[in-house]
Amino acid sequence: MKNRSHANRGHIGMNALRKRQGLHSSELLGAHLPPLEETLHVVRVVDCLELLKSLPTASVQLVICDPPYNINLAVWDTFDDYLAWATSWLDECERVLAPTGNLALFGGLQYQGEAGSGDLLELLMHLRRQKRMLLVNLIIWHYANGMGAHRFFANRHEEIAWFAKSKRYFFDLDAVRIPFDEATKKTYARDKRLRPESLEKGKNPTNVWAMGRLNGNSAERVGHPTQKPAEVIRRLVRALSYPGSTVVDFFAGSGVTLRVAMEEGRHSVSGDASPTVLDYAATQTKNLVCKVPARVLGEAEVPLHPVFAN
Ligand SMILES: C[S@@+](CC[C@H](N)C(=O)[O-])C[C@H]1O[C@@H](n2cnc3c(N)ncnc32)[C@H](O)[C@@H]1O
Repeated sequence: MKNRSHANRGHIGMNALRKRQGLHSSELLGAHLPPLEETLHVVRVVDCLELLKSLPTASVQLVICDPPYNINLAVWDTFDDYLAWATSWLDECERVLAPTGNLALFGGLQYQGEAGSGDLLELLMHLRRQKRMLLVNLIIWHYANGMGAHRFFANRHEEIAWFAKSKRYFFDLDAVRIPFDEATKKTYARDKRLRPESLEKGKNPTNVWAMGRLNGNSAERVGHPTQKPAEVIRRLVRALSYPGSTVVDFFAGSGVTLRVAMEEGRHSVSGDASPTVLDYAATQTKNLVCKVPARVLGEAEVPLHPVFAN
């Protein structure tokens, strides 16, 4: 039977690249970047659409989007026409993303809005029908800790849908590879088909990420009810953006994206409708160790510094 992978455009492209020892988009971008002296960060109490509309077109490398899902989790989580609202900020996301840009959209397929009108599935269907952005991966965030259940299997995962603005999307796999353990390395080293440098690089973390949810008493917690672990945000930031690029989170909640962006040497814009984001951001950024000095711009310095206009 014919090997169908020979007709796969992704494989053909990768093989062509390997043959001419070409550089991947991550290496190309990295090679041409000026050294970073500092990163700039903005935190605003602002409606998501207002924030997005203030950003220049094609200026953002990564949008981290963890929206309210109409499930009455809090006062901010109830909507009359969820889909109309959500599609307005999804369309804005597409506008602000650079051609290499990525969108990480959080959700849980099991969370169906009480009115049946808002969940990740609806947003995925909208984006699929539109056929503008590209669904690159549906990441399964698997955790061992969660609620018990008697009438169904206890849920232990949420999803993160990774959409790319275009086929030119940036992806730095090497930044998030997982090292092989010594025993596996020894076993694989006997396989002559595998290159030693590939073994040293580590393995692809796959699209199933086993990372714990934050327990109530986790040291990372700043008080927001749906705070995501820094570990999850960090893998997204490292793989889907590059140093000196801009990361935006307009449902910033606990300010975890701000913290990770500062630590990882990316510029960032964070916004949330709730003023609590300012206190959470202050807690997140206290005593941070950053790869590059990081500066939070004051309200007076917004509209944004030209650095955000790519
Ligand atoms: C699911 S939480 C985000 C949690 C965040 N990812 C974290 O890890 O901390 C959704 C956030 O959206 C905010 N929000 C709700 N409606 C909003 C709106 N119209 N504009 C901006 N933020 C809004 C809420 O205040 C809440 O903090």
